[in-house]
Amino acid sequence: MHVTVIGGGGREHALAWRLERSPSVHRLSAWPGNPGIAALGACVPGRVDDQAGILDWCRREAVDLVVVGPEAPLVDGLADRLRDAGCAVFGPSAAAAQIEGSKVFCKELLRDAGIPTAAFEVFADPAAADAYLRQVGAPIVVKADGLCAGKGAILCATLDEAHAAVDQVMRQRVFGAAGERVVIEAMMSGPELSVMALVDGEQVVPLPVAQDHKRALDGDRGLNTGGMGAYSPVPQVDPSVIQQIVEEFLKPTARALVAAGCPYQGVLYGGYMLTPDGISTLEYNCRFGDPEAQVILPRVEGDFGEILLACATGRLAEVQLTCSDRAAVCVVLAAGGYPAEYATGFPIDGLSDAALLEDVMVFQAGTRREGAATVTAGGRVLGVTALGQDLPATIQRAYQAVARIAWPGVQFRRDIASQAVSS
Ligand code: GLY
Repeated sequence: MHVTVIGGGGREHALAWRLERSPSVHRLSAWPGNPGIAALGACVPGRVDDQAGILDWCRREAVDLVVVGPEAPLVDGLADRLRDAGCAVFGPSAAAAQIEGSKVFCKELLRDAGIPTAAFEVFADPAAADAYLRQVGAPIVVKADGLCAGKGAILCATLDEAHAAVDQVMRQRVFGAAGERVVIEAMMSGPELSVMALVDGEQVVPLPVAQDHKRALDGDRGLNTGGMGAYSPVPQVDPSVIQQIVEEFLKPTARALVAAGCPYQGVLYGGYMLTPDGISTLEYNCRFGDPEAQVILPRVEGDFGEILLACATGRLAEVQLTCSDRAAVCVVLAAGGYPAEYATGFPIDGLSDAALLEDVMVFQAGTRREGAATVTAGGRVLGVTALGQDLPATIQRAYQAVARIAWPGVQFRRDIASQAVSS
């Protein structure tokens, strides 16, 4: 089949890489893709919000399956538009994608279904939000309702910070219309865990568990980022916890979405906190995590294209997902200064040298071609990923590959997955 991947980041490169290895996929393309994906299939220049252009491409090029990577086109209804035209799409409808696109929708769905999540209130009026804050005090979390590129949840240690968050989100509208409403919720504490699953209505098939590193600097210091690295499996989390999340959180969430009239089709990403009082839901995302996808997908065995097609066409129950016991580690190489200001346009040395190492994949995220050179074009530039027999050997292999790559100012964490081997 002909599969088109929508998006152009590291997650989409990992999706394209895995799909290209699937026996059922004879042609791969991406919209818009990136220079890494271009080595696997045709990349069509275009914007992910150009629904008419994508539909036209799918019809003209007889695309059998569209795999949507990022959340924004899903929340905007790309999957609905394509499905209405008869295309098979891996990715939820706009109604189901509200689980990420609207924090209010997500929290109310969880509360109504009795799925544990922090206590919360919803406000459309900043004065009412401020009055509530004075009543409950800090620490507290203020969340903009809509999509904010991962920046919409503001953790406030003091009441002043919480009022400032309401002011920025609701009055100054720093996130635009996403700040029309806010969720104000109790702050929780404990280790975080993300669990992703393929979901087709009430059918839930868990994927290997991965852990992300959100902070920019070693030892979980520095600013929050989109993710500086990931690893899988996560041996310090007891398998019974993961089982409990699947049975008591993911499956009831899928059922609640069906009951709400918006059955989910695609990958559902649950973020959980292991609090002293038990597991609680932090958030849901309507797509693969990035860089979690870069370590999960290399561990998935079998015909991944067929599995995604089955999920997209209501046949997930008919396929078997198997995963290898091998470990995967991804180290993100970022531009100097990221996630604050950074420069782009530096030629990247050693890309092909690093990829020569056995079981090493260099997934490109923020790159572009300039003549014969691949140059930096974003904050997170590469996801250097290794597979190996266990985490210690795989960490070593990933950093061996990282050592072969250079450009002025490159920054990366040196402690990816170290907590998994030291605990
Ligand atoms: N790595 C976190 C996310 O994709 O949202």
